Amino acid sequence: MVSDVGSYRTADQRPATHRVFPEDLRVQLLPSGMTTPPRKLIIAIDGPAGAGKSTIASRLARKLGYINLESGAMYRALALKAIEWDTSFDDGPALVKLAHNSRIQIEPSLGGNRVLLDSRDVSQRVREPDVTEAASRVSVHPEVRQWMVARQQEMGAGGGVVMEGRDIGTKVFPRADVKIFLDADPVVREQRRLQQQNVRGAAAHAVASELRERDRRDRTRATSPLVPASDALILDSTQLSEDEVLQKVEAWVQSRLAP
Ligand code: DC
Repeated sequence: MVSDVGSYRTADQRPATHRVFPEDLRVQLLPSGMTTPPRKLIIAIDGPAGAGKSTIASRLARKLGYINLESGAMYRALALKAIEWDTSFDDGPALVKLAHNSRIQIEPSLGGNRVLLDSRDVSQRVREPDVTEAASRVSVHPEVRQWMVARQQEMGAGGGVVMEGRDIGTKVFPRADVKIFLDADPVVREQRRLQQQNVRGAAAHAVASELRERDRRDRTRATSPLVPASDALILDSTQLSEDEVLQKVEAWVQSRLAP
């Protein structure tokens, strides 16, 4: 059964009529008796911190049987290396040299992306506040971004991937099959982050102002600032539950597959 349920706004305002298939998309992507394997899509999910990208990307990837790659984890791994090697976060050429001498691996797993730096599991460490702050600063440098984008393109080239970040639909895969820009009201994003991290009082103030500062840096940097791709579905999750967001994202995926 296929049902029409309306249209979404894309960044360039073109209404995109879409069709929604019920339940698990995998069933629709792999009809029984099909001999040619279905094309493995590249799905880009971009947006600011706290908009819910990681949860949605991971749930969508699981449903489709795709891998989920968090591009931010790579910036975090490089930032950690810069901390450990005492490299200035403001020195682009030194940072890219460091990147060339590093082995950064992102391994998708059910519990999220495992992050390996020079074969060491740093999955927990890269989520800590000092690395979060450093990643934001490291990511402003054009030469660092160029290195990261090339690695990310290699990782996603085969398709069957949901890649999330800030510039996936605009720079990493400008021809991605499906692009989504997930946003939410800044106050709501802050609240979600505070709940996730279970912080209150003065610590909550620090987390909130750090989030605002990262937002500002992501949106205003000269190279690849955070902006929706012109053909992305812009989804504001402020008033939506996680399940509702996922439903809309799935419908958008189907609309891009429909002939
Ligand atoms: O998504 P995240 O919070 O783990 O990302 C960490 C930092 O990396 C964030 O401050 C912005 C930066 N980043 C980026 O510039 N481009 C990406 N594609 C992903 C992350």
